Amino acid sequence: MSSVRGPSLRYQTVDDLRRRARRRTPLFAWEYLDSGEGDERASARNIESLQRVLLMPRFLKGELEPDVGTELFGVRCSLPVGIAPVGLTGLIWPGADIALAETAARCRIPYVASTVNTADISDVGPRAGDMGWFQLYPPRDVAVREDLLGRAQQAGFHILVVTADVPARARRERQTRKRVSMPPRITPRHVTQAALRPAWTLGLLRNGLPRFHTLERYVDRATLRELAGFVGASLGGTLSWDYLAETCELWPGPVVVKGILHPDDAERCIDSGANAVVVSNHGGRQLDAAPAAIEALSPIVERIGGRVPVLFDGGVRSGLDIARALALGADFTLAGRAFMYGLCALGAGGAGFVASMFEQQLTTVMHQLGCERLDQLGDRDPRFASA
Ligand code: GLV
Repeated sequence: MSSVRGPSLRYQTVDDLRRRARRRTPLFAWEYLDSGEGDERASARNIESLQRVLLMPRFLKGELEPDVGTELFGVRCSLPVGIAPVGLTGLIWPGADIALAETAARCRIPYVASTVNTADISDVGPRAGDMGWFQLYPPRDVAVREDLLGRAQQAGFHILVVTADVPARARRERQTRKRVSMPPRITPRHVTQAALRPAWTLGLLRNGLPRFHTLERYVDRATLRELAGFVGASLGGTLSWDYLAETCELWPGPVVVKGILHPDDAERCIDSGANAVVVSNHGGRQLDAAPAAIEALSPIVERIGGRVPVLFDGGVRSGLDIARALALGADFTLAGRAFMYGLCALGAGGAGFVASMFEQQLTTVMHQLGCERLDQLGDRDPRFASA
């Protein structure tokens, strides 16, 4: 893992990076990344509920050497956290997809490349090495699904993540209020917003205008806007239990279903052929009344944990948050915004900076809790402080 040097003193937390990211990213890109749905209670609840998880330290353990590495689907990872799929990545920060894939390979943490990222999966896959996972928004047209899955395999992705929690487009009022359309219509307003963010604009000049490279072959005239229409019309509202079972049949490696909150759904995913689930409410971007992801975790672990890995995503901002999720039974975690804040704040090395920060924080937390191995975290009496 890259060592934390240079900016390490100034940026002690993901929140420090978030503040700098906001200053360096054009408003339309920032709003897309940062916003939630409705009054944004679900995205806030993810963070607040994680912060309420208390862990009980145990002492007199002598000298400890915490090991924060773990194995998932037979692959050794240096940390129990991966980079969650984020759409329109290269528009949020130019060159993001490639930077994230290279970070994943270098730091040995998974990177989940989104169907709606902006680089071609054939460029991203080889750069991520054995750390590349591919996220599928289920295409309506099964021929597109088959082609996409074939291309993902060819690009070297071994693990497939099927997103379950976008049955339809969400309203995302904050984005609309700020007149963010995704992808943005290039208006004088956007040019002005970009001009105020020179590092982003320089990155754009170097990397070129982002396109939906992975998807554009499936539409005739593949501008960003036309593709956005395609994404809305062709990738949403398609997922059913039969569709999932067929997808599991088609994919030769592990299939992970992302965005599960109810234990019955988790169980049925496994019965349908999935190999793991991610407990997640899509970063609070879909339903403002959704429970905090961390509160949905234990019931799902109780139902299917031990049989298959249970992953957790939703509000992870620190090594302590990773420890909290693992203590409550998660086998692994994902973080989306945290890595993107790092990238927007510090450029191409920013996601690796966040990985190093997580590693140091998690190691410190393990020392404080008296744990040498991640599977001991569950013995530290995890419980929610009353609200
Ligand atoms: C895409 O996954 C989004 O939440 O915007």
